[in-house]
Formats: sequence, structure tokens, C-alpha cells
Amino acid sequence: MEIHPLHPTFGAEITGVDIGRPIDDDTFARIRQAFEEHALLLFRDQDLDDEKQVAFSERFGPLEKTFSQNPAGGTLFARQSNLDIKTGETIPIEDARMVYQRANMLWHTDSSFKRVPSLCSLLSARIVPPEGGNTDFADMRAAYDALPDATRQRLEGLAAEHSIAHSRAQVDPNLLSDYQKSIEAPPVKQLMVRANPVTGRKALFIGAHCSHVVGWPEEEGKRFVRHLMETAITPDICYSHQWREGDIVVWDNRSVLHKATPYDSKKYKRLMQRTTVAGDQPTVMQ
Ligand SMILES: [Fe+2]
Repeated sequence: MEIHPLHPTFGAEITGVDIGRPIDDDTFARIRQAFEEHALLLFRDQDLDDEKQVAFSERFGPLEKTFSQNPAGGTLFARQSNLDIKTGETIPIEDARMVYQRANMLWHTDSSFKRVPSLCSLLSARIVPPEGGNTDFADMRAAYDALPDATRQRLEGLAAEHSIAHSRAQVDPNLLSDYQKSIEAPPVKQLMVRANPVTGRKALFIGAHCSHVVGWPEEEGKRFVRHLMETAITPDICYSHQWREGDIVVWDNRSVLHKATPYDSKKYKRLMQRTTVAGDQPTVMQ
């Protein structure tokens, strides 16, 4: 197994491992160590199906079930696709399932709207369009390191409110039902800075689900979050992944933001399957 860095601040490609087969504990320990250190891992030319993806994902920990409005809602998979799950036909752009996925084009971290936010996501490329459809990633450890000292001090101990209602409202305020907003996924609090428990490195924890600072006047908190989103995510901390079929990327949701980018969904087919590994504790008392 070899580890090749992908970008100056984060990400590594791992070669020489077939993750579709059982992996011995020593090899997995090296993969896990690389995950803690590099925050994003790429494995190419993998022959994965749903069962193999679940088996590899579970090595990182128990999996989350996905939010009810995802096209594969309530299963272990978040389906990112323009193909109907039953018929395989292309879904029209105006269909609610496509509108829901549009929010993926905002910088976010998966499941930060849950009381216990996720550890990591694994996204595998099953059908890839010949152009477009990159996934962009941002290293929020490097973003934190680059903040002015005064901002880092200001962030110390702060929590922000996160909700799926907030991220979906940015694409369509009517996308979620009242039940989904208030019962299935009510707003939660998350620390704005999270330290990796293994390496100790701190990361700025914000994104599209994050609306305002807890305990501050709401408008001021919204402005601060918007300011961080606009200034902290700079090109030098971003990596854009151009997918090939057989790729699987694992990223650390504690320290990496990501967003989908457009492709021609009328012309091309795309099927990406995401599994999400649950975190083990809340970041802050609720
Ligand atoms: Fe996502």
C-alpha cells in the first residue's frame, strides 16, 4: 500500500489496496491513520457494489441512515443521481428529487444538522458523465490556520445553529415539510471549531447547514457565519476531484467541506452512491 499526497494541504491517493475485499487489521489501521492525517482519501479503479461499499464503510464505524427526502432516503445510501431508482430513467430537472440535490452544490459537511454529526462520508462513482460533475473539497484545518488571530480567539468555545431547513431554504423554502423541519430534523448546535482527537489539529466547522451563532443577536451571528463562509474558503485550500468510474473518496466531515458541481443532467447519466459513517458524540451539550 502506498500513500501519495493529492494537494499541498490535504488529501491522499492510496494505491495497492483492493477495498472490495476483506482488509486485514494492520492495513486498515494504516488507512485510518492516513484518514486522520490527510482528511481525504482517494482509491481508484475499485470494483465496488453496494454490499462491498457498506462492508468497507463499516470499518470506520456504524453507518447512518439517510434523510427521508434523499431519493434513497431511509436506507444506508444517499443517492446522488439523475436516474430514477426503480426505472433507471432520467429524472426531469424540476422534479423535487433533483431540486433537493441542488443544495449539494453549496459548501457543506454531511449531517452537521444531526445532534451527533457524522465522522466521514464515502462516495463512489458508479456512472460518471464525460464532463462536469466534479466534487470540490475544502480543507477547513488549513482554513482555520489561515484565520486572523483575533478571529480564532473570537471563535473559541462558540457554537452555531445547524439545520437542514436552513440549507434547503437556500434553494427552495418549500422543499421540506413542517414535520421534516421540526420533528425529523430540528435545529441543533455545533461547536464552530473542532479538534481532531488523534492529531489535535483544529478545523473550522461551518457550511450550508450552519445559520447563526448561538447566544448572539441573530443578525450579527448570521453576518459572522456568512463572513467566514465568504473569506475562509480560498482557492489554495480547495481540491476539485474529477471522477472516474471506480473511484471512491472518503472524506472527514469534521474537517472538510465539499460541494457538488454542475453537469448536463439532460444529456448524461450520473450515479454516485454515498455511505455516511456516524460520529460518536455531540460536539456540544444541546
Ligand atoms: Fe454532501
